[in-house]
Amino acid sequence: MNILKALNIGYNLLKSNRINSYKIDTELLLSDSLNVSRENLILNFKQSVNAKIYNNFLLKLHRRKKREPIAYILRKKEFWKNNFYVNRDVLIPRPETEFLVEETLKIISNYQKKRLLEIGIGSGCIITSILKERKNCYAIGIDCCEKALKIAKTNVKLHQIENRIKIFKSNVDNFNTGKYDLILSNPPYIDKHQLKYLGVSEFEPCKALNGGMNGTEILRRVIIKASQLLKTNGKLIIEIGSNQKYKVINLLNNSNFFINKIIKDLSNQDRCIVSTKLI
Ligand SMILES: C[S@@+](CC[C@H](N)C(=O)[O-])C[C@H]1O[C@@H](n2cnc3c(N)ncnc32)[C@H](O)[C@@H]1O
Repeated sequence: MNILKALNIGYNLLKSNRINSYKIDTELLLSDSLNVSRENLILNFKQSVNAKIYNNFLLKLHRRKKREPIAYILRKKEFWKNNFYVNRDVLIPRPETEFLVEETLKIISNYQKKRLLEIGIGSGCIITSILKERKNCYAIGIDCCEKALKIAKTNVKLHQIENRIKIFKSNVDNFNTGKYDLILSNPPYIDKHQLKYLGVSEFEPCKALNGGMNGTEILRRVIIKASQLLKTNGKLIIEIGSNQKYKVINLLNNSNFFINKIIKDLSNQDRCIVSTKLI
């Protein structure tokens, strides 16, 4: 067995199972099994693949055939400027969530010392990306899911920011510690009745997606908590569902927030709201 032959087996298997990204997926899976870069793979078609590696590659192909997201099979996902460890206990970081990072970095200049809170830290991709770029900032991250916290802690260690962040298991409603300059959250915001129709992955944790009635249940609780824990003039930066803008603006206004900005994602959908706590 050589690389070219293994690739062709992978292409055929995934293509016949209607995986549109069969080519790149096969190449990523084989390079992961061989522990080489994808470029290296393409340049060494004739190199042999031993039985152990081939079997490992086949196992991964069969997981992908069943439509398990490639990030879970590879146990990593690129987000902002770094790779994050992921498994099925956390949501796979999404490109649209990078707007939260971008907007936060616009608010905090390079040398400012700010206290941040992230509600629903998941893999830790948002807060880790921010702390890596703003070396004087400190953060607390909370999540109600014990298994997700384990992954967040792994990523915090991996990116060597563990001395600037504390991570706690807590439901948004029960967390009452400290006052913050900025609060960030990408909460679950999918309407619970639509979860099964939206084509969201059956592999991802329901807790990370289910936003209750209208999808705004956790958003509402995040806004209430932010109104209690933000300093006056502190900023709340949240991700929202594309059809939730007016509902969320209403919730923010009712809790005395001023709306600074609504940011659209690359598909031109309303995705992120920056607001300020007035009193
Ligand atoms: C959409 S995921 C976001 C994860 C990560 N911040 C990201 O952007 O990739 C939402 C996270 O909120 C957590 N969560 C859901 N309900 C919560 C609640 N009531 N209190 C605290 N965390 C909650 C979930 O466990 C999940 O990790």
